[in-house]
Amino acid sequence: MPDAPLIIVSNRGPAQFVRDEDGNRTMRRGGGGLVTALSGLVSHRDALWIASAMSEEDILASEEEGGPVSLEIDGIDYRVLLVGSDLRAYDRFYNVIANPILWFIQHYLWDLSNAPDIRQEELDAWDYGYQQVNRDIAEAVVGQIEGQESPLVMLHDYHLYTAPGFIREKRPDAFLHFFVHIPWSQPDSWRVLPRRIREAIYEGMLANDIIGFHTHSYCINFLRCCDELLDGAEVDYLEAEVTYKGHTTRARAYPLGIDAERLRRAAESAEVAEAEREVLERRRRYLIIRVDRADLSKNVLRGFTSFDTFLTQHPEFREQVTFIAHLQPSRQDVPEYAEYRERIEALVAVVNHRHGTTDWMPIDLRIYENFSDAVARYKNYDLLMVNAIFDGMNLVAKEAPAVNTRDGVLMLSENTGSHEELYDFVLSVNPFDIQEQADAIYRALTMDPEQKAEWSSGLKNIVFGRNPGDWVDDQLADIEKVRAERG
Ligand code: G6P
Repeated sequence: MPDAPLIIVSNRGPAQFVRDEDGNRTMRRGGGGLVTALSGLVSHRDALWIASAMSEEDILASEEEGGPVSLEIDGIDYRVLLVGSDLRAYDRFYNVIANPILWFIQHYLWDLSNAPDIRQEELDAWDYGYQQVNRDIAEAVVGQIEGQESPLVMLHDYHLYTAPGFIREKRPDAFLHFFVHIPWSQPDSWRVLPRRIREAIYEGMLANDIIGFHTHSYCINFLRCCDELLDGAEVDYLEAEVTYKGHTTRARAYPLGIDAERLRRAAESAEVAEAEREVLERRRRYLIIRVDRADLSKNVLRGFTSFDTFLTQHPEFREQVTFIAHLQPSRQDVPEYAEYRERIEALVAVVNHRHGTTDWMPIDLRIYENFSDAVARYKNYDLLMVNAIFDGMNLVAKEAPAVNTRDGVLMLSENTGSHEELYDFVLSVNPFDIQEQADAIYRALTMDPEQKAEWSSGLKNIVFGRNPGDWVDDQLADIEKVRAERG
């Protein structure tokens, strides 16, 4: 185990600084799977977290501090170095390239006869946005590891594909480890990118020593992409490694575990008890929930359509069941996301109008961020819907069953990373098959209590069996192995 703090690098840090109504600076916890994973890591290991300054307030805070800041959020202590980039460059990086282009490629979200169009605007966004922010981050990393011999740097996710190449140029001796939190899609999906951009991504990634993914199938996709998309890359499928320009990169799977104990403590807190009161007052006989970022990959529209179909085909369940959809707002400056949110709201209005009565609203849509409210819902669902189109892991599918008290059933898309681990104890669904999802709702609400109890304890055993400390330990063990092999 290294004594120096781990250096972890990602675009989103654990919190964002914002001004409240009174003009005071406050913090808002970051949302999404990456922050959950890395917060779990930080609570188990000493780490310095290098992240982008994502707002003007972040930039101000980082300039005032001039170095790493210490923060405490939900009982975890963080040391964070926020890296400020030019605002225009950051906008191009985040709103034009990372989301949507890379995110859409890796979740197969493009409707290719219509989009994407790669115009000068996108090319400039790559050259002066994505690349610039990656250089800024790389420079900050190089500054932090100065004077350390063979330092270890752990980078995360699709925002930072080219940073490893920039770091490698300055520090050939560094050990660069990269973890991808989202799916790695098949080779053809990358062909929407101009060759030079594609190659820059793969060259940047092959500057790493190890690349981690949530599943084996993402590793295989990555190897196949290197084989097909980058001239000169030699792929060894048996060893799962790629050699390019004399440097070897290994691809490995490390499924992320959740901090189930911490979640259980949260489930016992006064805040959650307070939030639970409202859930219990409003619930009908059955409660269906979903908790997601409002993201196209989560397949919210088909989820509502399948609930609509279920109510039409099983009218005996009307007024007996409520579907609470708790969605966290996300990436609202990306037009595709803003439009998706509008479509969600419009569809909810249609379904509620079709089936609702004066005192029963079938879908209760809540678009906001609140951890205690999410946990209160986790505790009380009869059915948790996770029907993502594609999803790197999906942590909700692990977190909610950890604290559920009703032997609730999990409907889980076969295209999520967590499905590889949980499939024995879930209702597996094809995310495009609306009828199958409607049938799964019916099955969940009519399932024999003994089977529900068996599945629920099966899920709990898996999710309590592995925490983010194990996840990072597996990665550190492989790092040590590779270092030893190299002598
Ligand atoms: C996913 C990604 C993360 C990202 C998160 C939230 O979990 O893998 O990298 O941080 O979504 O998205 P955001 O754009 O708000 O950072």
